[in-house]
Amino acid sequence: MDDESDLSIAADWLREARNVVVFTGAGASAESGIPTFRDDDGFWQEFPVDEFATWRGIVRTALVQPRRLAEFAYAVLHPMAIAKPNAGHLAIADMERHTRVTVVTQNVDGLHGAAGSTIVHEIHGSLFEVVSLKGRFVRLISRRQVQAMSAKLERIRKGWFCLPRTLLAIRPWLGLGRRGLHRPKLVLFGDALAEPDWTLARQAVQKCDCLIQIGCSGVVWPAAELPQTAKAAGACVIAIDPQRTPADIWLRGTAAEVMPALVKRAFGDR
Ligand code: OAD
Repeated sequence: MDDESDLSIAADWLREARNVVVFTGAGASAESGIPTFRDDDGFWQEFPVDEFATWRGIVRTALVQPRRLAEFAYAVLHPMAIAKPNAGHLAIADMERHTRVTVVTQNVDGLHGAAGSTIVHEIHGSLFEVVSLKGRFVRLISRRQVQAMSAKLERIRKGWFCLPRTLLAIRPWLGLGRRGLHRPKLVLFGDALAEPDWTLARQAVQKCDCLIQIGCSGVVWPAAELPQTAKAAGACVIAIDPQRTPADIWLRGTAAEVMPALVKRAFGDR
């Protein structure tokens, strides 16, 4: 963890803030067992962006290399299906006992809600929401359904493979019936960010006085502009990440280690 004086200053800012935004990326869920995107063991190392980060690329992969699609879907679903909130998620939720907190997340794993955070804007969508091809809300699916999809995909990967079996395995996401074709509400490259979450996130950032950025590499826009927007509006920006991150204060360390320490230092055991 970073030096004690940085932690103390960050804790003072947090205690004095009236509106706090916590902005999270993949690093916030790493200690829940979900790989990040760009670290050495990240998703994009095994599943390149040009094949898997756009809907067009995914459809092309499904047609040309359907088994790879099953592997990708399993690699995304499995860790998220079994993940539980870590100490970082829990500390963020606990902070609501002391101050007004809005969570803005790029993660689609639902772990902030599972930890008990009440205001969560999922700007890159959610694995648990199904939309029409035009993006209209259709239904929610449960973590149990996601676990069932993941289990079916695992059997397909290990055994007899064919594309229709893969599509049937992820049927809760796709609809595949008289009610039309659906898709998970996941924002991929080239898509607009999820609404109303993105609008609400920007509003929250513009009126916050402290933004805590956790586990974001800051390379994917427009989400990456949020810390700068907060700064321009007069807020202080605290970053928690093992890698150096531009901020007023960078607390070096992991989400599950630093976030509970920061909340404890700011608010004690009150
Ligand atoms: P990245 O994989 O780009 O960055 C992860 C960040 O988390 C890095 O800064 C790591 O140093 C940090 N990190 C790793 N382990 C950590 C831990 N235990 N605690 C805290 N930080 C840790 O992930 P994102 O910035 O979230 O978008 O990626 C942004 C977007 O790129 C994703 O939402 C996704 C991806 O392409 C879309 O697909 C649209």
